[in-house]
Amino acid sequence: MASDGAGDGAMSGASSRLAAASTAAASPGPWPAPSVQLVGVGGYLPPRVVTNHELAARLDTSDAWIRERTGIVQRHLVGPGETAASMGIAAGRAALEAAGIEAGEVDAVILATSTPDQAFPATALRVQAGLGIERGFGFDLSAACSGFIFGLSTAAAFIRAGQVRTALVVGSEVYSRILDWQDRSTCVLFGDGAGAVVLRAGEAGSERGLLSSHLHADGRTGDLLFIDGAVGRPDQPGVLRMNGREVFRHAVTKLSASVDEALAANGLGHADVDWLVPHQANKRIIDAMGKKLALPPERVIVTVDRHANTSAASIPLALNEAVRDGRIRRGDLVLMEALGGGLTWGSALVRM
Ligand code: ACO
Repeated sequence: MASDGAGDGAMSGASSRLAAASTAAASPGPWPAPSVQLVGVGGYLPPRVVTNHELAARLDTSDAWIRERTGIVQRHLVGPGETAASMGIAAGRAALEAAGIEAGEVDAVILATSTPDQAFPATALRVQAGLGIERGFGFDLSAACSGFIFGLSTAAAFIRAGQVRTALVVGSEVYSRILDWQDRSTCVLFGDGAGAVVLRAGEAGSERGLLSSHLHADGRTGDLLFIDGAVGRPDQPGVLRMNGREVFRHAVTKLSASVDEALAANGLGHADVDWLVPHQANKRIIDAMGKKLALPPERVIVTVDRHANTSAASIPLALNEAVRDGRIRRGDLVLMEALGGGLTWGSALVRM
């Protein structure tokens, strides 16, 4: 375990006890499955900041419209040399440093992205090589804005099965390269960045760690939010398209159900949640979730105002900020939730 939590992305400090059953933490076989500990978090944001005013200077929009409808004030956008791999390396390095774990100890790199550098090798493997990891395995995962929750859940399954001891889970996105910059209804909503966490096998039956995760997808809603092309469909421009109102409606109902599902699976109630770390798509969706949980606003981690929607990177970036500034401490119960293109959605509960 690394040194004190506040300021360095590592989890330590006062611990608290949890007397709850956990479905997903239950042993997958006759052996006692290890717990899944979140031991470090890191993030990277490109230095270039673009404000709403800058967008309004070249697009039929306004700072007031964007703020009012989304809560977004600015976003970070990549420079010419930056990619999902380069940002993933930076975030991954920060998470490993925070955890006090050497690159050589990492067994698996799971990277969630909708904007990979190449169709293959997986961006995860560019990150693996960039961090000097010479063993284990890695792969990319495509679940749009829910990618980090899906990555967390996948890595945890490998750890509980005894196949992996240490996993690096990364969300890294360059949405600025898949936006239609003429479409004011989508291009104002997104930003670039990367976030990462280190997961490690811990003592079986530990009260800390990932308590459970809950994944959902419904391909029938695939046309509400999608990228209209890729290397397999070069006849399409490959830009993001969205029915914002419908996505909004699905987000509020599905995320509400997912949050209830996570708490019920662990025999916990709203009052047990110390922090909500939601996917950062829209401040109105975030506020609706905070209200549903009866959490005071200061217990909801918000970065959408400064980062906009960084898709799979948004939750680990928000977690990184709140761990490093000392708000989230060891022993705190953190609820994460996300919804994205697919539609995909899900939640995860972590006792830090
Ligand atoms: N600036 C000014 N006007 C705009 C802009 C803009 N950037 N974008 C759209 N408008 C206009 C529209 O053209 C429309 O004009 P009209 O009434 O003359 O036709 C008007 O504003 C209202 O448009 P709506 O789309 O109905 O606006 P709404 O209040 O639904 O807000 C928004 C749009 C912000 C996209 C909202 O629907 C939303 O947040 N949806 C969730 C989608 C989301 O966050 N997706 C991200 C990925 S999924 C996820 O991460 C959860």
